[in-house]
Amino acid sequence: MNLLVNIDHIATLRNARGEGYPVPAEAARVCEDAGAKGIVFHLRGDRRHIKDEDVVELKKVVRGTLDFEMAATDEMLNILIETDPHLATLVPEGREELTTEGGLNMSVVYDDFKERVFPKIRETNIEISLFIDPNPRDVELAHELGSDAIELHTGVYANAKSDDGRINELKRLREAAQMAHSLGMKVNAGHGLNLKNLSLLLEYVPHLNDISIGHALVSEALFKGLPDTVQEYLELLSIHRDVK
Ligand code: PXP
Repeated sequence: MNLLVNIDHIATLRNARGEGYPVPAEAARVCEDAGAKGIVFHLRGDRRHIKDEDVVELKKVVRGTLDFEMAATDEMLNILIETDPHLATLVPEGREELTTEGGLNMSVVYDDFKERVFPKIRETNIEISLFIDPNPRDVELAHELGSDAIELHTGVYANAKSDDGRINELKRLREAAQMAHSLGMKVNAGHGLNLKNLSLLLEYVPHLNDISIGHALVSEALFKGLPDTVQEYLELLSIHRDVK
């Protein structure tokens, strides 16, 4: 299992004052030096955090997995291909949302992904991951498209207000992970994960490959420092799984 750190909110802090710091690429270097296996960024259509110049710098400095999270617009596909990261994680994107609010609606995007998006990315060596909610139909459609991986949306689990709600969502995540794995896809996960909710997820959900964590990790790093925070996450992950 790999810890990938999402550094979007380093850019949020930088953009709050426009002084040019903190620098996302510098944070990426510190996270990788501390043991993270890669870096995730989301270049949004409105450029609210990561900017195009950050993408160029991240491509230069990241030594491990570079995961380019994006909506599948023509504009982003062109930047993706120019950037040539290891992985493209395709997500839905709504202008008014504070953060990605759910997985792709696979039955809605299926034809467009099949005809326009997958053929374009398949001209490259970039792996494709689809950010989906943990339901069997979406896993099946991701497989039919020939996706290399899915990223399970863990936000509903992370925000569950009751034990029943949490357990119910963990079951859905477990079944989706088992199904995706048996269909030959890698299983990634992310959204809303933190030091309090990670353990239970890892106990329940098998076959996890990349775990993507951003907001909580960057927030904790304000108090504990980025290297120590990354190491704390790695220690927690290694209690449950082999961390590469
Ligand atoms: N995975 C995806 C697809 C996301 O959209 C996000 C949020 O940008 C994350 C993981 C990380 O979520 P968080 O910042 O809550 O850790």
